[in-house]
Amino acid sequence: METLTEINWILACYTDDVPENGGACIKHGDEQIAIYNFTRRQEWYATQNLCPHKQQMALSRGMIGSAGEHCEPKVACPFHKKTFSLLTGECLSDDDNCQIKTYPIKVDAGKVFIGIAC
Ligand code: FES
Repeated sequence: METLTEINWILACYTDDVPENGGACIKHGDEQIAIYNFTRRQEWYATQNLCPHKQQMALSRGMIGSAGEHCEPKVACPFHKKTFSLLTGECLSDDDNCQIKTYPIKVDAGKVFIGIAC
């Protein structure tokens, strides 16, 4: 039997709060969530801010770009450059033990909303 998860959209910040082609971080409860304004692609993404490699709160300060022939959007941790898919959270640096959480995100009238499963 399929389980449906409800999404609660929270107002995370305003579009002006996040630099173009860069990231910012918000706190939601005990979680830090990185928000990426991928201006070059006109896309927005959200992931956990914690890099699982050495437990650094760093991904919002990482470099964003595109990987591979399918131009997968990615973020590279600023510490040791492990890269993660912004779509799936999969580690693209050949490390099966590193996976990050991703969040649904939407922008409406200058406001950035993140979907939190409830
Ligand atoms: S802490 Fe992020 S790659 Fe090492």
